[in-house]
Amino acid sequence: MNRLQGKIALVTGGSMGIGRAIAELFAEEGATVIVGDVSQPEAFKHGNITSKSLDVSKLEQWEHLVEAIVGEHGRIDVLVNNAGLVGSYLPIDEIALEDWNRVIDINQNGVFYGMRTVIPVMKRQNAGSIVNVSSIWGIVGASGVSAYQASKAAVRMMSKNAALSYVGNGIRCNSLHPGLVETPMIARQAADTTAAVAAATPMGRAAKPEEIAYAALFLASDEASFITGAELAVDGGYTTP
Ligand SMILES: NC(=O)c1ccc[n+]([C@@H]2O[C@H](COP(=O)([O-])OP(=O)(O)OC[C@H]3O[C@@H](n4cnc5c(N)ncnc54)[C@H](O)[C@@H]3O)[C@@H](O)[C@H]2O)c1
Repeated sequence: MNRLQGKIALVTGGSMGIGRAIAELFAEEGATVIVGDVSQPEAFKHGNITSKSLDVSKLEQWEHLVEAIVGEHGRIDVLVNNAGLVGSYLPIDEIALEDWNRVIDINQNGVFYGMRTVIPVMKRQNAGSIVNVSSIWGIVGASGVSAYQASKAAVRMMSKNAALSYVGNGIRCNSLHPGLVETPMIARQAADTTAAVAAATPMGRAAKPEEIAYAALFLASDEASFITGAELAVDGGYTTP
């Protein structure tokens, strides 16, 4: 129950779904958790979680929140860039430009802004762990979902870039690649899309959000002290060659 004892963790998109499971598990494991989200969460099970308003696609909101966290807690040990959306299921020649830009703004620029504002804090500490939530669609191809694929692939490579750029600053950065997970995001999509992904998953099922949270916990914790620049698929075998 103390795998993140005493750590200050910022988790984006933690009001529901995977981010919420990560926030709850991190708090259970001893972290002080700050959730940044555009939506208000229902009450958390754990008391050591604070909810703050954050639109990850707005750099000034990141700057404000990071300053507030450092003002209150003095440090940020863990950043989980989890907030994201599918946004559009359409291919390149059909997706509306505004939908493309919105998905890139949230999924890709949001991760960039998060790292850009938190990394200076971690550099001062000479320590920190960043977990960027990508997707199986950041590793292998799919039809449609063009902006989502582009953004999630970018997150994968931005994570490797940060890993190597800050390896001398005590900062680790890894990407997490969930397969199908039972969350509100999936509840919103067409049932036949979900069924097709489940059928193509060797384990033949979707994950529970907690199964993703345990992988994030490992990467965030000091147990992963020799792991940086890695991509961890938590996908029931989906991307296994
Ligand atoms: N569910 C899956 O099958 C699956 C698979 C692979 C990857 N992922 C990724 O996992 C992450 C979480 O997905 P989920 O299924 O829990 O989604 P979800 O829609 O259930 O929850 C997403 C959370 O992010 C928040 N959010 C959305 N836009 C935001 C913004 N601009 N700023 C701050 N918060 C914002 C939402 O309010 C919500 O609380 C996403 O990055 C998603 O791409 C999900």
